[in-house]
Amino acid sequence: MAKTVRLDKFLADAGAGTRSEVKKFMQKGQVQVNGVTVKRPEQKVQPQDEVVLAGDIVCMAPEFEYYILHKPAGCVTATEDTRDKTVMEYVPSSRKGLFPVGRLDKDTEGLLLITNDGALAHELLSPVKHVEKTYYAVVSGIVTQEDVCAMEEGVDIGEEKRTLPARMEIICAVENISGEKNIPPQEQVDVPVRLDEAVPYSEIYLTICEGKFHQVKRMMEAVGKKVLYLRRISMGPLQLPKDLQRGCCRLLTKEEIAALKAHEK
Ligand code: URA
Repeated sequence: MAKTVRLDKFLADAGAGTRSEVKKFMQKGQVQVNGVTVKRPEQKVQPQDEVVLAGDIVCMAPEFEYYILHKPAGCVTATEDTRDKTVMEYVPSSRKGLFPVGRLDKDTEGLLLITNDGALAHELLSPVKHVEKTYYAVVSGIVTQEDVCAMEEGVDIGEEKRTLPARMEIICAVENISGEKNIPPQEQVDVPVRLDEAVPYSEIYLTICEGKFHQVKRMMEAVGKKVLYLRRISMGPLQLPKDLQRGCCRLLTKEEIAALKAHEK
């Protein structure tokens, strides 16, 4: 069935301006559909119609948009907030209906998917789908093989049930360092953590398939470690690209979208 939309929505979705801005263009006679000037915002258009704004052809926006953001620390995962900057401020689109898929804490960095595809988001977040999320973390203390086994078995984070089995990989466990420094990053982006002299720390990867509130922090606390830095590096088949700097956001490639949709099934 051909997709039919109002002309003002067509133009706004295509990035021509807000709904009220595009209505003004129409009132000024700057919009033609198939060669005829149209001033009614409610006029319906279809993909095969030729829409021209101020002499330029405007293409119909795809129904769904998919962005990957490297969330920096300091912003909240919400569409609106009266106090803090939100992740949406990093998205180079004013398309209505975009929202973050899942939630990262204000101090957590890393991969965040932003879309207007509610069905895909539902699949990725559904607790029965067990979509894997991998985090890179710097934690206080020395992470041990016993901690790795505890994660595999599930830990008590104060909920009714233990957490589902999680995979932990120890990158390094350091007894002490001298002075303050940026930890040599295993990941390619620098890790802004201040460490005190003589305080042991570890770097780990933790892969979980649930999405409980503060889950990684609470799981590490359950084995006596405090998360000092946290970055999500993957969600299902989607990886945080090494060349996507913090605060940068781009459209997903066709391959990334296909991988997500294949994973959804
Ligand atoms: N687990 C946490 O503790 N925080 C996050 O932001 C994501 C997972």
